[in-house]
Amino acid sequence: MKINRELIKEKINIVEYISRYVSLNKRGKNYVGLCPFHQEKTPSFTVSENKQIFYCFGCHIGGDILEFLKRYLKLDYLQILEILEKETGLKLFDRDKEYDKKLKEARKITEINKRATVFFINNLYKTSDGAKALNYLKNRNLTIETIKRFYLGYGGADWDRLYRTLISENFDRKDIEKTGLISVSSGGVRDFFRNRVIFPIVNIKGEIIAFGGRSLDSSLPKYVNSQETIVFSKRNTLYGINIAKENLERSKRVYIVEGYMDCLMMHQAGFNNTVATLGTAITEEHIKFLKPLVEVFYLIYDGDVAGKKAALRGVELFLNLGINPHIVILPEGEDPDSLIAKGLESELKNAIDSAKNGIDFLINFYKMLYSLSSVTGQRAFILQIKKHIENITNPLERALLIRSVSEQTGFTKEEILDIFQIKEKSDIINLEVNNTPEDTITAILIKNPEYITQIENEILANFSKEHISVIDKFVTSKKTDDLSDVESQLYYRLTILSDSFDENTNKIFFDNLIFLKKRHYERINEELTNKIKIAEKSGDFTRVKELLRKKDEIKNKQKELLKLRSN
Ligand code: UTP
Ligand code: MN
Repeated sequence: MKINRELIKEKINIVEYISRYVSLNKRGKNYVGLCPFHQEKTPSFTVSENKQIFYCFGCHIGGDILEFLKRYLKLDYLQILEILEKETGLKLFDRDKEYDKKLKEARKITEINKRATVFFINNLYKTSDGAKALNYLKNRNLTIETIKRFYLGYGGADWDRLYRTLISENFDRKDIEKTGLISVSSGGVRDFFRNRVIFPIVNIKGEIIAFGGRSLDSSLPKYVNSQETIVFSKRNTLYGINIAKENLERSKRVYIVEGYMDCLMMHQAGFNNTVATLGTAITEEHIKFLKPLVEVFYLIYDGDVAGKKAALRGVELFLNLGINPHIVILPEGEDPDSLIAKGLESELKNAIDSAKNGIDFLINFYKMLYSLSSVTGQRAFILQIKKHIENITNPLERALLIRSVSEQTGFTKEEILDIFQIKEKSDIINLEVNNTPEDTITAILIKNPEYITQIENEILANFSKEHISVIDKFVTSKKTDDLSDVESQLYYRLTILSDSFDENTNKIFFDNLIFLKKRHYERINEELTNKIKIAEKSGDFTRVKELLRKKDEIKNKQKELLKLRSN
């Protein structure tokens, strides 16, 4: 796949894109903000509009807009390019065979899934087994409207009727296998979702990407899902998103629940901005997906131990991404589905309205863990909470949180700020101090390759492996295709650095070069002194003489350097 990087640089402004996810402030030529790839309090994440790259001086991740989106959204290049093409209307890469193949495979899977959905729906309404399943759904208090709106179906009792239907309609067996709708073993081909109520899983674009199936027979696993495919991964999928989408954008709020039935019943009860994870804990990918759509997040969990643990993990994940979610803990043993089925919507509504914010939830949790009556307990407690509060960047939110920590712990606000500020100072990253002379020289070489002729090979030989290969790839041979992670980190850091040299490039270059030479000669001198000692001890005076002569040579070079300096 050939990516048109020049066009991307020219037409897509990296600052504009990154600003959607990270709040940036102008500092000098560049923009800075809190790095989304590691936790920090002082901004070291730098975006150069000029160079159309970003680099974080804290965690050393850097790259262009594609690299940013790839890391941030956790998608592959192809998915990123497709999104960018859609937004800009530009052709940003050449479709090759591999691309066509992937696209075809994805289309085939969603096409077969669509056909299977029709099959499942027909089973539900038109077969006698289906009638039992329909009855089951009604007994679970789902209305026919909800059942239809979510395309619920039934897998059927036959061994392989779906498979035979698909084959008779000329779908390819290999393609059917890829969807996970059948399982193939020595016993033959079997429909995977036999005897199960079917919950089609639809993505935000409306494509049916997978299925969940609930068994009506309690001796079997309760739920099964389609296998992961190129169009379906659980980490990235939220059940109900196709229906909730518009309501999320309108209300700017989302309810996140744990099960299919919870999601359906929530919608039916009027909480129409609900989505469900698919039997997995909430992931970073889920949160990042929702972040541009909503402002307020509610995580709704069962009140048992497992639910509380899941809530804790969820809160931590959200706080790491700078969001303070609301945590709704339901009475033990209840889920949204069971409450609504019992006609207890108002209780659910109350639980939602009185939801704790994530920090308060953490405070309560850690209060149970550490005894606040002892100093050790207090210390452990405050350190735990501090870690999380540091990730909250919104000033109002921070102020509220600090107040709440104060109220709950008895520490005054000043004391809390004091505890937090000690770290705050030591956190500041001094960009200049972190650059070595090798960095500076390499940065200048990237910008002005002609300086390479000014550096002696013996000096260059002391540079680190990465510096040397960056110089080789960007300055000497201009073969920049295969950069290792370390090399590209270095390259992006130095590219940002190089922007800070202007008219004084020449002076900076030679100052640093002289420093390196001086250090180089000092080291050689030291080495020679040691060798001379050894030679003297072993009585090898010819060698001593030879070494002394070398030492004189170095001395002369050092003198020359001093002259250069005073010029
Ligand atoms: P629960 O066990 O809480 O089920 O699983 P539930 O939603 O209350 O189901 P009902 O009400 O008995 O029908 C929550 C979610 O975890 C996943 C499913 O996505 C389910 O909705 N799960 C559960 C599985 O994937 N496999 C299982 O065996 C059980
Ligand atoms: Mn349930």
